[in-house]
Amino acid sequence: MLRLTAAGARAIVDMSYARHFLDFQGSAIPRAMQKLVVTRLSPNFSEAVTLRRDCPVPLPGDGDLLVRNRFVGINASDINYSAGRYDPSVKPPFDIGFEGIGEVVALGLSASAKYSVGQAVAYMAPGSFAEYTVVPASIATPVPSVKPEYLTLLVSGTTAYISLKELGELSEGKKVLVTAAAGGTGQFAVQLSKIAKCHVIGTCSSEEKLAFLKSIGCDRPINYKAEPVATVLKQEYPEGVDVVYESVGGAMFDLAVDALALKGRLMVIGFISGYQSPTGLSPVKAGALPVKLLRKSARLQGFFLNHYLSKYQAAMEHLLELHSRGELVCEVDLGHLAPGGRFIGLDSIFRAVDYMYTGKNIGKLVVEIPHSVSSKL
Ligand SMILES: NC(=O)c1ccc[n+]([C@@H]2O[C@H](COP(=O)([O-])OP(=O)(O)OC[C@H]3O[C@@H](n4cnc5c(N)ncnc54)[C@H](OP(=O)(O)O)[C@@H]3O)[C@@H](O)[C@H]2O)c1
Repeated sequence: MLRLTAAGARAIVDMSYARHFLDFQGSAIPRAMQKLVVTRLSPNFSEAVTLRRDCPVPLPGDGDLLVRNRFVGINASDINYSAGRYDPSVKPPFDIGFEGIGEVVALGLSASAKYSVGQAVAYMAPGSFAEYTVVPASIATPVPSVKPEYLTLLVSGTTAYISLKELGELSEGKKVLVTAAAGGTGQFAVQLSKIAKCHVIGTCSSEEKLAFLKSIGCDRPINYKAEPVATVLKQEYPEGVDVVYESVGGAMFDLAVDALALKGRLMVIGFISGYQSPTGLSPVKAGALPVKLLRKSARLQGFFLNHYLSKYQAAMEHLLELHSRGELVCEVDLGHLAPGGRFIGLDSIFRAVDYMYTGKNIGKLVVEIPHSVSSKL
């Protein structure tokens, strides 16, 4: 049962919003909204995705929240999703975007037991690249305010937290190698490994990123454009590294396997260097893998966040706590250094995805979704 009728839901006004837009006639929730839709399967985001301007604003069901998105997160896998690699049985058109943060503007009766209009919530659910998204209350996370920093934890933070906790077997003094260390999820792998008192080596592609990695406690940042990673690892870590948080694939994966210590473990978090290719893969020296693992009693294990959702809520709670105590930096990149400037508005998501694939983002790439002041009923 809905707490609100369809008409009632449209008439609910978030009070903070109402204060800002008192000149509006009628409801603060428009009938129509903009959203991004995958209209053709392709890893080329701008070929695959269309900005639709006249979509109905969805209505929340009994257990749902209608969230007005204020910030949405860009993920490397947005282009895997637009290529249909997540669920090959799904055919376009379909919604896209993994995560958002915003305010509740309407909700169903069951959802109202825990949430209210105006409340700030963050969520990981499909379809966030939209002005409004319906989110099951059961998977939303209440947050103190609509700050993009909280958004960084939803996919990127929890991926690092759960994978390292479940598979990393971290303990004091272990050597951890993090690839794409200055990015959305890499920044958390670095910091959580430091919290576990490990020695952390992180790869990145620029001096700016190197400085950022130092600032979050990375012991040995390596700018792979200035120093060959394999050589640094051989010279400075002749015994090898105990844990690898590997996101890049291809040649980086190969050299990380070679750098494993006895009984070392490599977690396959991703292989971004292949995502833009038609197969989504980047070649690795697969033939040599069994012998390399056997010789070191080493382990290779995949990690996919969707398979660990039972651990999600506890991970979010702990990450929020660490951030609130000032023990976890949540670096956000809103695009102020990107060509064309800050990412503001749904149409700038195309530019933000391109920016990520130039490898320039520092921290979590985030797009702001300002509220459309012209959306009168
Ligand atoms: N398994 C899971 O459940 C899960 C969840 C979230 C993310 N991930 C994975 O984590 C990795 C990072 O994702 P993210 O969303 O956090 O992105 P991100 O790290 O914020 O951005 C991507 C970074 O990857 C690096 N990179 C290396 N080679 C690249 C290439 N050929 N093209 C583009 N970038 C390249 C770049 O940094 P530098 O070159 O400077 O290092 C770039 O800034 C991806 O592999 C993603 O699939 C996996």
